[in-house]
Amino acid sequence: MTDDVPPEIEKVLISEEEIRAKVAELAAQIDRDYAGREVLLVGVLKGAVMIMADLARALKTPVSMEFMAVSSYGSSTSSSGVVRILKDLDREVADKHVLVVEDIIDSGLTLSWLLRNISSRGPASVEVCALLRKPEAAKIELPVKYIGFDIPSEFVVGYGLDYVERYRDLPFVGLLKPEVYAG
Ligand code: IMP
Ligand code: MG
Repeated sequence: MTDDVPPEIEKVLISEEEIRAKVAELAAQIDRDYAGREVLLVGVLKGAVMIMADLARALKTPVSMEFMAVSSYGSSTSSSGVVRILKDLDREVADKHVLVVEDIIDSGLTLSWLLRNISSRGPASVEVCALLRKPEAAKIELPVKYIGFDIPSEFVVGYGLDYVERYRDLPFVGLLKPEVYAG
């Protein structure tokens, strides 16, 4: 339900409809770029589950789907760039056209590590599709070919993104009320 916004949400930043339109646009672009080839979508758990599921269905290109779970060492609120694999890919990616699917790129450190890791396994190609990007990541050299939305440097939830494991199920991307963090 599009209008069903819980009281903890201060503001809807990107609506369900806007996300749907953008995913369709990204899928069309990816279909053109990969014409005649198969794509291996690699979703980064857990945040990428929504974009992964919607993108896979919007694509006409045949895909297979793999998931990785990674975790930064140290502080959970800011990325250190040192990454630990919690769940690795189940299959080899050698000679495959890999498209890494991410919810959001903040500092870009996690993605930068992930790209080095995947590239070392000898895929035919590696590209990135991220629904959201914050300004800090836009500054660093990251080969992100497909971007949904550039957003301000604020903490967002919904459509896969969580605050302490909540709000991932919201169909839109929004800002939390300040009292939610305080409480
Ligand atoms: P970074 O790009 O290495 O700084 O880390 C990106 C990861 O941090 C994302 O995959 C998210 O899991 C998390 N993250 C960054 N910004 C937000 C946000 O605004 N809301 C929820 N999670 C976020
Ligand atoms: Mg993530």
